Amino acid sequence: MRIKIAPSILSADFARLAGEVRAAEDAGADYVHLDVMDGHFVPNLTIGPNVVAAVRRVTSLPLDVHLMIESPELLARQFVEAGASILTVHQEVCRHLNQVLVEIHALGARAGVAINPATPIETLREVLGDVDLVLVMTVNPGFGGQKTIPSTIDKARRMAELMSVSGSAAELEVDGGINPDNARLLVEAGARVLVAGSSVYNWRASVAENLNALRRAAESVAGK
Ligand code: DX5
Ligand code: ZN
Repeated sequence: MRIKIAPSILSADFARLAGEVRAAEDAGADYVHLDVMDGHFVPNLTIGPNVVAAVRRVTSLPLDVHLMIESPELLARQFVEAGASILTVHQEVCRHLNQVLVEIHALGARAGVAINPATPIETLREVLGDVDLVLVMTVNPGFGGQKTIPSTIDKARRMAELMSVSGSAAELEVDGGINPDNARLLVEAGARVLVAGSSVYNWRASVAENLNALRRAAESVAGK
């Protein structure tokens, strides 16, 4: 089964970002995952629309922009104009989630919604028909290089079931601590897009070697 791999540039060398993005594209990445953090929703600061626009200029891959910010509706237009192909907002910060998703579609991007490890899957039940991507966080967002929280694997499975029962055509994405050792478990749970930062961008091996190892593990699921 073909699984999409979305390398997160959070762990890349920002001093040579173009090369890091091209290395992922050359190695067969499906999306480039960009983590936007505001220092409020999560205790870290990363990039804004200008870096998204810079990445847009050096790759033809879809840009999977993960907004870990409060009031994402205020910046949605800027991120779509910067080149976001998929714009994902967190359920926890959207008082009018349906409206935000409608606005993202109106701006011309695919709409995604993410939930933190402590947020129940049922909070997305009523919007499953309005989204193109569901992101189940497998760590508490904010930093790369964390370990997957074990209970989130079963949560991904329950999310996949809920999506299937609801007739949702959205892609199920997982993000946090994903590596060749747990990729298969997550795919067996129903994940179809794997975000991977520190297991793709590290000193142990090249981006291509790391990405291939992850893909081999993810696609080794028997009988699918
Ligand atoms: C975490 C971010 C992730 C992060 C993943 O808050 O949303 O996308 O970059 O990094 P790893 O794969 O190292 O856990
Ligand atoms: Zn992310």
